[in-house]
Amino acid sequence: MDLQALVRNVPDFPIPGVLFRDISPILEAPAALNHALEQMVSHVDLDAIDAFVGVEARGFILGAALAARFGKGFIPVRKAGKLPPPVQSLSYELEYGKATLEMRAGRGRILLVDDVLATGGTLTAALTLCERSGYEVVDIAVLINLVGLHALTFRGKAIHSVLVYD
Ligand code: PRP
Ligand code: HPA
Repeated sequence: MDLQALVRNVPDFPIPGVLFRDISPILEAPAALNHALEQMVSHVDLDAIDAFVGVEARGFILGAALAARFGKGFIPVRKAGKLPPPVQSLSYELEYGKATLEMRAGRGRILLVDDVLATGGTLTAALTLCERSGYEVVDIAVLINLVGLHALTFRGKAIHSVLVYD
C-alpha cells in the first residue's frame, strides 16, 4: 500500500516556506491506518514492550491506536501544565524559545512514538524524559521522517521511520 501517496503536502503551513506533511488522509482510511500501525512496529519484538509512549498531540493519535491494536498500555508525554502532579518535567530549546514536556514516573519497557520527526528536538527531549521518569526505552518509531536518513540514532537507539522525505 502506498502510504506516501495519501500524505497531503500543504505549502506554506503553518508559516511561509514550510511544506507541511498532513497525515489526516491516512488516519481517515481504515486500511491505510492499519497498515501504518503495522509498519510502525514491523521492527519491534512486541513481547519485549509493555506500553507505547506518545508525544502530545499527534503522537497521542498513533500511540493510542498502536496500544489498542497491539494490546498494550498507552502513556502520554504532555506539554507543560496538563498532567496532574506528581510529574517529571524536562525543558528543551526550540528554534525560538523553550518548551517543556511532562510525564508520570513509572516502570516498564516502552516504545516511544510520534507522527513526525523534523529537527528531532521533540523526540530527543521525550527520550530523555522517559529515561529520567524510570522507563526503559526499547525503541523509537515515527510515521514520517523529514530528515531524510532511514536510521537516525539518538544515544544508540535507532529511529524507525515508515516514510522518509529528503
Ligand atoms: C510536531 C510533530 C512532532 C514535532 C516534530 O508537533 O507532531 O511532535 O512537531 O518536530 P521536531 O522534530 O522539530 O521536534 P507540534 O509541536 O507541532 O505539536 P502538535 O502535535 O500539538 O501539533
Ligand atoms: N508535518 C507535520 N508535522 C510537522 C511537520 C510537517 O511537515 N514539521 C514539523 N512537524
